[in-house]
Parts: sequence; C-alpha cells; structure tokens
Amino acid sequence: MPALEVLRLTKRFGDFAAVDGVTFQVEEGEIFGFLGPNGAGKTTTLRMIYGVLTPTAGDVLIKGKSVREDPEGAKAHLGVMPEDAGIYPRLTTEENLVYFGKLRGIPEGELRERTPQLLDRLGLTEKRYVLADKLSKGMKRKLAFARAILHEPDILLLDEPTSGVDVMSAREIRSMISDYASGGRTVVISTHNMWEVQQLCTRVGIINRGRLIYVGSVEELERLTGEKEFEEVFVRLIKGEVAE
Ligand SMILES: Nc1ncnc2c1ncn2[C@@H]1O[C@H](COP(=O)(O)OP(=O)(O)OP(=O)(O)O)[C@@H](O)[C@H]1O
Ligand SMILES: [Mg+2]
Repeated sequence: MPALEVLRLTKRFGDFAAVDGVTFQVEEGEIFGFLGPNGAGKTTTLRMIYGVLTPTAGDVLIKGKSVREDPEGAKAHLGVMPEDAGIYPRLTTEENLVYFGKLRGIPEGELRERTPQLLDRLGLTEKRYVLADKLSKGMKRKLAFARAILHEPDILLLDEPTSGVDVMSAREIRSMISDYASGGRTVVISTHNMWEVQQLCTRVGIINRGRLIYVGSVEELERLTGEKEFEEVFVRLIKGEVAE
C-alpha cells in the first residue's frame, strides 16, 4: 500500500480551480518533491492532504485511510510543517515542542530527551526560553520543522521547509530529511530550490495552474527534457518545451 494516495483532488474557490484533478501517489521511504510556480496550488494541495481544507472533489488516502471518511485516523500518521509556521506565538520555543509533544502523546521521558536534541541540531538552544513570537523568521521555520518531526510521524509534509533558513540550518534540515526517509519513512516536500530537489528527492511532481503536469524521478525528467541542471529541466517542463 502506498504511504500516500492523492486521487483527483480538486479545490475551487468560487469559479477558480486552485487545484484541478490532481492525482499522484508516494511510496514508503520516498522523498517526493512537489514543485511549481507561485500560486500553482502546492500549499492548497498540501492543506487538503493534512486536513485543514476540505476538497471540492477527490480524496486523499493516508496509509489507506481516507481523509474524508476517517480524518482522525488519516491525520494520526502525519507530521506537518505548514507554509505559515503555525507555531504558538505565546509559548516559548521549548514550550512549543513540549506542549505539542504532549498533544501527540509522546511519553514524558522521550520528550525530555528529544526536545533538547532537536533544539541543538537546529541551533535553537539559545532561544529555548524566548517566546516563539519573538523569534526571527528563519528561527520560526526551524521551530516549525522541529515540531513536525518531533513525534516521528510515518509521513512528513513540509511546505518549503528551508525557505528563509540559513545555510547551516538548511543543510541540517536536509540531512534530517534524508535520514528520516532512509529509515523507511516518507517525506513530501514543497520547495523552490532546484538544487535541493536534485540533492534530496527520489521523485517529483510538477504542478502548474492547479494541474499536475509531470510526475517522475529527477533522472526521468532530465531525460525527457535533455537537460542536466534541474532548474533548466523545471523551466522547460513549465514552458512545455519537451524534447522528442
Ligand atoms: N482561501 C483562498 N481563497 C481564494 N483563493 C485562494 C485561497 N487559497 C489559495 N488561493 C489561490 O489558489 C492558488 C494556489 O495557491 P497556493 O497557495 O496553493 O499556491 P502555491 O503553489 O503554494 O504558491 P507559492 O509557491 O507562492 O507558495 C493561488 O492563485 C491563490 O491565490
Ligand atoms: Mg505555497
């Protein structure tokens, strides 16, 4: 069974189809890159997958569980880093993790071990007693990442995890994502960083104007376009310039 199945997923806002019949699946252990220009529908798709936005049509199966029919069962497998950090501004950095960890049912002892480790890896230890509201933009992103991964979910959904994050921390995040997937867990990541896609992703889906236009491995899409740099691959696919 695939970790994640997205089935003809559609979201309309009035007459406008932000996401239009998107279908793809992600197997366990994959790092799936979800790419597309601004406004293509990435965040809207991810929000339907993690259940904060109701689809107009279609469905999502998470480990076989429908987000429509069994939203709680489906969501239990997920760790989510939303586009807008989604952290609690009135709690400190450390409290954000502890509070969320308790909500997710992590045993006290484990939580006491994991929290400082994560803060340390992401360079947030110094800020552990600072209100999340007072963190810099990049620090908020890192805290949101820590929160997504804290309870070691089966599937991580990351909406631009390294956007606005400094070089050292972005590197740390990428290494944590790689380790995560090599342990057999699944990651879906949206990013505008094409180098990052080449480094990380086993497969990518490209969405444009609400429609999924290509799904394949980085190598397949390189072959299809005759390009080596993934930035060129991406531009050609978006422009519809595909080699015969
Ligand atoms: N609640 C909403 N009401 C109306 N339109 C919306 C709403 N949410 C998103 N949209 C529209 O849906 C489209 C897709 O937006 P979305 O945020 O999914 O894009 P994205 O691919 O994540 O872009 P970005 O790379 O900029 O993050 C955009 O045109 C956006 O204006
Ligand atoms: Mg987005």
